[in-house]
Amino acid sequence: MLVLLFFLFLFHPAPMASAADAPSSPELDKTQNSIMTNLSSIVGTNTWNSTIPVCNWPGVTCSRSGSGSSLVVTNIKLSNCGMSNKSIFASICSIDTLQSLDLSRNSFTDLGDLTSCRMKEGLRSLNLSSNRLSQPLSDLSQFLQLEVLDLSINHFTGGNLNTYLSSFRNLRSLNLSFNSFSGDVPTSMVGSLAELVLSGNQLSGSIPQGVFSYKNLTLLDLRQNYLIGSIPNKFNNISKLESLILSGNNLTGQIPLSLLHVTTLSRFAANQNNFTGPIPSNITNHVSMLDLSYNSLSGKIAPDFLSHPGLQTVDLTSNMLEGAIPRNLSRSLYRLRLGGNRLSGIIPSSICDGRGLTYLELNNNQLTGNIPSELGNCKNLSLLSLPSNKLQGLVPDAISSLDKLVVLNLQNNSLSGRIPNFSDLRSLSTLNLSHNSFTGQIPYGIFQLQKLSTLDLQGNNISGDIPVSISSSQSLIELNLANNVLTGTIPTMPTTLSTSLNLSHNNLSGSIPSSLGNLIELEILDLSYNGLSGEVPSSLRNLQSLTQLVLSYNDLSGSVPSFHQNVEISTVGNPGLTNGTGNNNDTPTTGKKKMHIVVIIVFSIAGALVGLCLLAAAVMMLLSKIIYRVEDEGLPAGESVPQIRNGCLITMNSIHTSAIEFMKAMEAVSNHQNIFLKTRFCTYYKAVMPNGTTYSVKKLNSSDKIFQIGNQEKFAREIEVLGKLTNSNVMVPMAYILTVGSAYLIYEHAYKGTVSDLLHGVQSDVIDWPSRYSIALGVAQGLTFLHGCTQPVLLLDLSTRTIHLKSKNEPQIGDIELYKIIDPSRSTGSFSTIAGTVGYIPPEYAYTMRLTMAGNVYSFGVILLELLTGKPSVTHGIELAKWALSLSARPDQREQILDTRISGASIAVHSQMLSVLNIALACVAFSPDARPKMRNVLRMLFNAK
Ligand SMILES: *[C@@H]1O[C@H](CO)[C@@H](O)[C@H](O)[C@H]1NC(C)=O
Ligand SMILES: *[C@@H]1O[C@H](CO)[C@@H](O)[C@H](O)[C@H]1NC(C)=O
Ligand SMILES: *[C@@H]1O[C@H](CO)[C@@H](O)[C@H](O)[C@H]1NC(C)=O
Ligand SMILES: *[C@@H]1O[C@H](CO)[C@@H](O)[C@H](O)[C@H]1NC(C)=O
Ligand SMILES: *[C@@H]1O[C@H](CO)[C@@H](O)[C@H](O)[C@H]1NC(C)=O
Repeated sequence: MLVLLFFLFLFHPAPMASAADAPSSPELDKTQNSIMTNLSSIVGTNTWNSTIPVCNWPGVTCSRSGSGSSLVVTNIKLSNCGMSNKSIFASICSIDTLQSLDLSRNSFTDLGDLTSCRMKEGLRSLNLSSNRLSQPLSDLSQFLQLEVLDLSINHFTGGNLNTYLSSFRNLRSLNLSFNSFSGDVPTSMVGSLAELVLSGNQLSGSIPQGVFSYKNLTLLDLRQNYLIGSIPNKFNNISKLESLILSGNNLTGQIPLSLLHVTTLSRFAANQNNFTGPIPSNITNHVSMLDLSYNSLSGKIAPDFLSHPGLQTVDLTSNMLEGAIPRNLSRSLYRLRLGGNRLSGIIPSSICDGRGLTYLELNNNQLTGNIPSELGNCKNLSLLSLPSNKLQGLVPDAISSLDKLVVLNLQNNSLSGRIPNFSDLRSLSTLNLSHNSFTGQIPYGIFQLQKLSTLDLQGNNISGDIPVSISSSQSLIELNLANNVLTGTIPTMPTTLSTSLNLSHNNLSGSIPSSLGNLIELEILDLSYNGLSGEVPSSLRNLQSLTQLVLSYNDLSGSVPSFHQNVEISTVGNPGLTNGTGNNNDTPTTGKKKMHIVVIIVFSIAGALVGLCLLAAAVMMLLSKIIYRVEDEGLPAGESVPQIRNGCLITMNSIHTSAIEFMKAMEAVSNHQNIFLKTRFCTYYKAVMPNGTTYSVKKLNSSDKIFQIGNQEKFAREIEVLGKLTNSNVMVPMAYILTVGSAYLIYEHAYKGTVSDLLHGVQSDVIDWPSRYSIALGVAQGLTFLHGCTQPVLLLDLSTRTIHLKSKNEPQIGDIELYKIIDPSRSTGSFSTIAGTVGYIPPEYAYTMRLTMAGNVYSFGVILLELLTGKPSVTHGIELAKWALSLSARPDQREQILDTRISGASIAVHSQMLSVLNIALACVAFSPDARPKMRNVLRMLFNAK
C-alpha cells in the first residue's frame, strides 16, 4: 500500500499550462463564443457549463485561427449524449472553422436542411455512426473536404451510391456499414481511399473491377451483402491490403491467386459464400487469420499449408476438401477447424508438435485409424472435437492428461474398449462418447469431475450399475445413458440436473426412487424401456420445470400422479399403470426443442462472428419457454407505474432504510426521462426519494429482451447474498423490487459516468496516467474481492461500460448480479453473445460455453489495454487485444501500443505504463490457464514501476 501511495504522490500531475488557460492566451472568437453558449443550453449545462471557458468544455478543441489572434473551435465531440434535437446540428453548422465533428451514438433522426451549412466547406471528419438517420445521402455529399466519413449503423437507404460519393475529393476512410444501401458496390470515390467498409447492407451485383483501382486500400469489408459472381483476380493492384472481409455473400468461383502477392494481408475472411475450386496453396504465407468456412472448396490441403510461421487461426469448416490432414503445424496456430469435409487418412501423430493448439475440430470427415496418443502433447487443448468419423480402437490414456480440456466430443465413431477414468480432466465440462462401441462399466471417477455438466454415453454397450458416486456430482446438468445394457437400480441423482435425464433402453430394475422429486429444475425425464416396477412416486409432482415425462414400457403399477397440463406424459406399455390425469399424450418423442438445440450447437460451433447476432435472436426465440420476455422500456412519461409484487430492503443502514420508498422508485422508472445509462442488460434510472436523497434504480432487462428471473424466491435469495458484500469498488444492491415482468435493484447514486465515457466520451481532456492507474487498481481490487468470495462472483459482462465512476479515479464494478439471472449454460448456442460485450469476450467462450474467472481476467486485460492505449475495445472490427498482442511480438513496437499523449509525461510514467502493459498482455493470453489469477494481477499492479 505504501508503495502505491508513494507512486500516486510521484505522479501527481504537475500543473500544465494549456493553450486555452494560459494567462496570455487569446480569447475565443466572439461570434463563435455566442454560438457555443447558445448550444450549451441545448446540449445541457451539465456537460457544457457556461461558467467555464468554451475551449475547456469536454469534447471541444480550439486552435489559433490562421489570420487573427483569436481562438476558433476546430473539433466537437458529442458522442453518446442522448441527443436528438436537430437544431443542435444547425447551430454547429455555422461554425465554419470546424474540422472534425463526432455526433455518434445519439438519437438523431434528421439533421435538417444542410444547404446553408457553413462548416461544410472545411469539415474533414464526420462521424454520425449509431444514430437513426435516414435522410438522402445527397445532403451529405456537399461536405466536399471530408477525409473520414462514418455513417455506420443508421437507417440510410438508397440505390446509386456512385452519384454521391464522387463529390468527396479527399476521402480516406468511408464506413457505411449496417444501413440499407442497395445497388452496386460504389467505385466513384477518389483514388486515395484507404478504408472501405460497406458491410451489412443490401448491395448486389458483383465486386466491380473498379475496387482494385484503390492502390492505398488497407481495409475492404463487404461482408453480409448480396454480392454474386466471382472475385476479380486483380489483387496485384492493391498491395497494401491488410484485411479483406467478404463473408456472408453469394460469391462464387475460385479464390483468386493474385491474393498471394499481397504480402501485407493478415486477415482474410470469405466464409459463408459458395466459392469452389482449390484453396491457393500459399495463401497462408502471409495471412495469419484465415476463414473460408461454409463454401464449396475442393481439392487437397497442401502439405505446408498449416506450417507458416505467424499463422494463428484456420477455419475451413464445411467445404468439400479431401485428402490427408497436413502433418506440419505452425507453432503459433491455436485454432484449427476442418470439420464437415471429406478428409481421409489418419490424424497425424505430429499434429501436436507445435504444442500451441487450443481448439481442434476434425468432426464429420472420413478419418480412420486410432486416436493418436500424441494428442496428449497438446497441453493447451481445451476443445477436442472428432465426432462422425471412422475412428476405432481405444481412447488413448494420454487424453486423460489434458487437464485444460473443457469439451471432448468423440461421438459417432467406432471406438471400443473401456471408458478411461478421465479423473485428471479437471476442467472437463462436456463429454460425449455416444454412438460408439464402448463396453465395461461407467468409471466411478467420472462423476467426481467437478465441472462436468453434460455427459452423453448413449448408444454403446456399457454394462453394470450406474455408480452411486453420481449423487455427489456438482455440476451435472444433462445426463444421457440411453441404449446401453445398464442394470441395477436408479441411484440418487444430483439436483443440478436440469436439461434432461435419459436412462431409457437399459435393463434397470427396482422402483423409481422418490428422491427424483428433488430435481426441481429438470425438464425432461425419460425412463422408458427398462424393467422398473412399483408405483410412480408422488414426489415427481415437485418437478416444477418438467415438460416431458416418459415412463413407457416398464412394469409400473398404481396411478400416475397429476401434473400440470403442460407436461407431456407417456405411459404406454405398463399394463398395471392407470393414468388419472387426462393429459396423457402417448407419443414418446424426444421433442422438437431438442432438435433445435442440436442445430444451434452445430451452427454456433461453426460460429462465424457474422452469424452470432442472428443466432442470438434465434436462440432467444427457441428458448422463450425458459426466459422472460420483457416489454420494451421507454414507456412514455405518465404511463402506468409498474405494480410491485415484492420489495425488500437488504441494507441494514438506517439512513437508507428510512429514505428508500419503493413506490417512488417505481414512479421514477415509469418516466424515461429519468434514464441516465443503458447497458446491454440494464437500464439505470435516477430516483429522488421524499427526503431529497437520490438513488439509482436499475431495471434488469436487455436490449436483447432476454432475462430469466425463473424462480423469484431463488432470485431474492441470491440478491440478498450479493447485498451482504462490502467493497468500495463494487456496486452492491441496497434493495430489490420484483414486479410482474421485471426486477429492479436500488443503489446509492454516485454516478459520474462510466470508464468508457471517461476514455472515449465527450470529455476531450486527455486523462492522465495517475488517474488511469488508480482506476486499474480499483477495478482489480473489486474483481479480486469478487473472485475471492466464499461463493465467487463472476462477471457476465465486464467492460468499461459496466464500470461506473464515483469520481475520476474511483471505479465501481456494476452488474454483478447478471450471472445469477442470465444463465448462459442453459442457452448453449449463444454463450459468447450473451456473455459479454464484443472485444471483451475471451476466445474460449465460444467453445467452452462456461463463465470462468480466467474469462473475467481476459476482460480485465482488455480494460487495462483501453487505459493504456486510450483506444476502444474494437476498432474497425479489430479487437484491441488481438491488435496489442500482434504488436507486442516485437519489443521495439511495444511503444506504439501506449497512448503517446500521456506516455511521455515522465520517465517514471513511461516505465510504469510498460510494466502495466506486460500485465495486460498476460491477462489476454489465448489460453485461459496461462492467464494470472486476479490476486496476482493485483499484486503485480501494485508493484508495477
Ligand atoms: C458550473 O460550474 C460552476 C463552477 O464550477 C458550478 O458551481 C456549477 O454548479 C456548474 N453548473 C452545473 C449545471 O453543473
Ligand atoms: C497513396 O499513399 C501515398 C503515401 O501516403 C501517397 O503518396 C499517394 O499519393 C497515395 N495514392 C493515391 C492514389 O492517392
Ligand atoms: C444466394 O443464392 C441462393 C440461390 O440463388 C438464394 O436462395 C439465396 O437467397 C441467396 N442468398 C443471398 C444472401 O443472397
Ligand atoms: C454452390 O455452387 C455449386 C457449383 O456451382 C452448386 O452446385 C451448388 O448448388 C451451390 N450451392 C449453393 C448453396 O448455392
Ligand atoms: C509457396 O511458397 C514457397 C515459399 O514460401 C515456394 O517455395 C513455393 O514454390 C510456393 N508454391 C506455390 C504453389 O506457389
